[in-house]
Amino acid sequence: MKRTIRDADCSDKTVLVRVDFNVPLDPLTGQISDDTRIFASLPTIRYLQQNNCKIILCSHFDRPKGKVVKEMRMFPVAKRLNALLGQETIYVRETIGDVVREAANEMAPRDVMVLENVRFHGAEEANEIAFCRSLASLADIYVNDAFSTSHRDHASISGIADFLPSYAGFQMEKELRNLSAALDDPARPMAAIMGGAKIADKINLLQNMFEKLDLLVVGGGMAMIFLSALGYSVGEGNIDEESVNIAKSILELAKENNTEVILPTDVVVSESFGVDSNYKIISLTELKDKGFVMDIGPETLKLFISKLNNCRTIVWNGPMGVFEFEQFSNGTRGLAEAVANIKNVTSIVGGGSTAEAINKLGLVNAVTHISTGGGASLEFLEGKDLIGVSKIPEIDVVDL
Ligand code: 3PG
Repeated sequence: MKRTIRDADCSDKTVLVRVDFNVPLDPLTGQISDDTRIFASLPTIRYLQQNNCKIILCSHFDRPKGKVVKEMRMFPVAKRLNALLGQETIYVRETIGDVVREAANEMAPRDVMVLENVRFHGAEEANEIAFCRSLASLADIYVNDAFSTSHRDHASISGIADFLPSYAGFQMEKELRNLSAALDDPARPMAAIMGGAKIADKINLLQNMFEKLDLLVVGGGMAMIFLSALGYSVGEGNIDEESVNIAKSILELAKENNTEVILPTDVVVSESFGVDSNYKIISLTELKDKGFVMDIGPETLKLFISKLNNCRTIVWNGPMGVFEFEQFSNGTRGLAEAVANIKNVTSIVGGGSTAEAINKLGLVNAVTHISTGGGASLEFLEGKDLIGVSKIPEIDVVDL
């Protein structure tokens, strides 16, 4: 178990918290379109405020590659934090240096400061020692609450932990608890729901879980790759040979591990890839080389639900269809609603597009845990050590 801020003697201290405020923006309005990650930082901030700490928040935003990029300043994020926290935070347009130090010296207990985008400095991604020291010199304690960036060997994630006593924040703790439970000792039967398009991203995850996996349910573009591997003609999606070979090896692994694989029996196809395109529901046998597969069909949804109903653990990674378009969101929505109604199930959603789908469809309460991490949760479920997590010391658990 990692030590958390509960284990820290943090009263009246200055605490530097690495958060992940890398939030998506609406391409049309430029406004924050999903503030889940900002919201996720509140429990840690409030706890530190209850302990009279001065709180310095450090995050990256997008990938400015070591340069100051106007559109990637933290200001909009700080503004949204103010609204969520119900308090005016101090926003400084620098990440390190005299301006920051002076502002930090003027902080009162419970004040919250938001540093400028840490990736404006190339030294962040290069994990340069001098930069780690400069960041560390601002505080007495370091808290990593950025699970979703903890796969990056960067100064504010891993390097800084060499210079300050380090603790996990509450979001970090929550992610580790939920994702580890699904990996280490899952209640059985256990199912993985896989979707999305990129099969290469999922193979390592499946390899790591197969031993404990009773059921593998595949939807989305990925199902077409599996069906192609089984000899079906699957429409106009771009299916390359390498992906088909990966699907074949996953089917082989499933056989070796006695994991039942469930694939769609009907699908929603449309004439073109568009929000208003004409579409129809067809069975697999009707699926020829024409048309884009946009969602799983209603018969498939029923089949998936009936198979998942007695599962006690479900790990979900990847949407069932092009959920961004209302008319092709039924598969993802229907499955999320069904998962919400399964009794005694622990359901874990790996971040990225599945989390986005669940948020967009207003189904956040439908699952036990939605990871804030995309790449980080994938790597964690693949069984890899995340460098940022490994830098937080373990704490001994004493059985009473
Ligand atoms: C993410 O969005 O997955 C994290 O914020 C990490 O961002 P990165 O992939 O740019 O390192």
